[in-house]
Amino acid sequence: MNKTVICPGSFDPVTLGHLDIITRASKLFDRVLVAVLVNSSKTPTFSTAERIELLRDAVSGLDNVEIVSFEGLLAEYCKNCGVDTIVKGLRAVSDFEYEFQMALANKKLNPDLETMFLTADADSTFLSSSMVREIGSMGGDISNFVPACVHDRIIAKLRK
Ligand code: COA
Repeated sequence: MNKTVICPGSFDPVTLGHLDIITRASKLFDRVLVAVLVNSSKTPTFSTAERIELLRDAVSGLDNVEIVSFEGLLAEYCKNCGVDTIVKGLRAVSDFEYEFQMALANKKLNPDLETMFLTADADSTFLSSSMVREIGSMGGDISNFVPACVHDRIIAKLRK
C-alpha cells in the first residue's frame, strides 16, 4: 500500500523539533505532505511564502516530503487530498489534552481521518516556534533550535 500522511502546523518558523517529526514520518510512510496553515487566529511573524520556503530548504534532503499550504479546516483539506492520516509530534503531557481534543474534533468532521502521534525527541520537548522568535529577536543564540541551512534567514527576519 502506498501511504501518504499529513504533518500540519503553523511552522512560524520551522524548528529542529518539527524537522525531527517530519524526518521520522518520512521513514515510516511513503509520502509526507507538510501542510502549512495559511490563516489562523495567530498572526504569523513569517509570511506564508517565507514559512514554505524555509520548510522546503529544511527538508531538501528528504525525497518523499512535499510542502503544501491550506486554508480552512484540516479535516476538509485531508478529504480533498485523499489523505486519511495526520501525523503530529507530542512534546510533553501538556500537549496531550489539546492534541487529543483536536484529534477527536477532526475525527468527528471526517470519520475516516486518523491522527497518529510521534513522541518528540528529548532535545525538543521544550522547544516551540515562539521561543525561537523570542530568543532570536532578543539577540540570543538559536543555532541549537532551528535547521542550520535556514538559521541565517530566520535571524535576519527576527532582527529586522
Ligand atoms: N517541535 C517543536 N515545536 C512544536 C512541535 C514540535 N514537534 N510541534 C508543535 N510545536 C509548536 C509549534 O512550534 C507552535 O509553537 P508556538 O505556539 O510557540 O508558535 C505550537 O507548538 C503549536 O503548533 P502549531 O503548529 O502552531 O499549531 P497546532 O499544533 O495548534 O495546530 C494545525 C496547527 C494547523 C494542525 C491546526 O491549527 C489546524 O488544524 N488548523 C486548521 C483549522 C482546523 O481544522 N481547526 C479545527 C481543528 S480541530
